[in-house]
Amino acid sequence: MSTIVITGTQWGDEGKGKIVDYLASKADTVVRFQGGCNAGHTVVAAGEEYKLRLLPSGILYKGTLNIIANGVAFDPEVCLQEMDAMAARGIDTSNIRISDRAHVVMPYHRLMDGIGDAQRGADKIGTTGRGIGPCYMDRDDRIGIRVCDLMEKEEFAKKLKKNLDIKNGELAAVYFHEPLDYDEVLAEYEGYAERLRPLVTDTIPLVNEEIDAGRKVLFEGAQATMLDIDYGTYPYVTASHPISGGVTIGAGVAPKKIDRVVGVVKAYCTRVGEGPFPTEQLNEIGDKLREAGHEFGTVTGRPRRTGWLDAVVVRHAGLLSGIDYMAVTRLDILDGFDEIKICTGYKYKRQLLKGVPASLNVLAEVEPVYETFPGWKTDISGIRSYEELPENARKYLERMAEVTGIALGIISVGPSREQTIILDKDMF
Ligand code: GDP
Ligand code: IMO
Ligand code: MG
Repeated sequence: MSTIVITGTQWGDEGKGKIVDYLASKADTVVRFQGGCNAGHTVVAAGEEYKLRLLPSGILYKGTLNIIANGVAFDPEVCLQEMDAMAARGIDTSNIRISDRAHVVMPYHRLMDGIGDAQRGADKIGTTGRGIGPCYMDRDDRIGIRVCDLMEKEEFAKKLKKNLDIKNGELAAVYFHEPLDYDEVLAEYEGYAERLRPLVTDTIPLVNEEIDAGRKVLFEGAQATMLDIDYGTYPYVTASHPISGGVTIGAGVAPKKIDRVVGVVKAYCTRVGEGPFPTEQLNEIGDKLREAGHEFGTVTGRPRRTGWLDAVVVRHAGLLSGIDYMAVTRLDILDGFDEIKICTGYKYKRQLLKGVPASLNVLAEVEPVYETFPGWKTDISGIRSYEELPENARKYLERMAEVTGIALGIISVGPSREQTIILDKDMF
């Protein structure tokens, strides 16, 4: 297997960073293909914790090529900050390549994201405020500034001028904010351009040559299926396509070149930000999940909403992304529970729904149908083989595979690399 996609199956923060880092030990190249620094991927290696927002999670391996492809909303400031932070910790950052087609996050995107979401009042989405939505909006409006523009001094100055004329008008009229200064923004971004220039390239041939030469390429999804702009709980979603198909659009790789897809499934469910969450537990169980799992956002520090595993959601992800294997993470967080539940279906007006309804009014009213499992009440964080897992944990996992129709591939019992049980060594 030469190419593998790692995709989130729920509402994000499933532990994609950990799984990517684990599989990246075998990869020649790791590619981010969508989203931007709204992602927060945590990797724990040799007792050190790294929180990655924009840089691919393959960065910790010396010699791995790390590509930020065209589908990423690219924030040059964050990229350089992360590179500096990595370098300060002795990590080599020379192996990063940035697509010249990626769209650049500008200061007005961040402002409009933050103020705009607050202005929605009770209807706010609860975005990360990183300017990701407004950056993609400009791309689709065909006024966006791409990395290749940033590399051409005159072109960038011209495009910035044109954009600021529009954006400063909008900032005043819609966002009640003072205008941004052209010279300041120009100088700031020219500074980024000079530092980033050696890393900027056409990543389309680069990724495809890697694949065609039989080297191992891993595509690192950010966010997750239920936050997909089309397939998630719209409008409470992000502005990109985290599903596996996002790779073809976001990295310039044909569908037939994708060999395998791994869906990362947290053993229970969390969500940051607003929007429907059928299995949410607004009770002691939810509090216990949040405390046991230290469920607070990597990017914003917000408490994550918590609930039971929703197999309807995972099935939806499996269908959309063609998931071959599940990587089940955070199973250890359930160690202290007497009972654990899986939602196997949604009941709506006495009917069992097959999939995730499009209408949020329907989704808000569905009644989750649960199956209850006895807990294992043992610390599993030191276990390294499937057979050694307590019987109740295996029963839970096996039922999870049954109700989702997706095979188990990886079981994670802790944040570090060693706390990983792999069921198919030839997965990648
Ligand atoms: P991502 O956005 O999908 O990469 O996930 P985040 O990094 O935002 O959140 C997952 C959190 O769970 C991080 O703090 C990881 O270090 C941690 N983690 C990943 N896998 C496991 C696991 O199996 N057990 C425990 N206890 N923590 C895990
Ligand atoms: P990772 O990759 C969890 C959520 C935000 C908000 C919605 C839209 O770490 O799993 P945006 O800033 O993207 O316009 O916000 O999406 N969101 C995430 N939630 N994990 C993420 O990334 C997320 N990225 C965005 O909280 O509800
Ligand atoms: Mg995260």
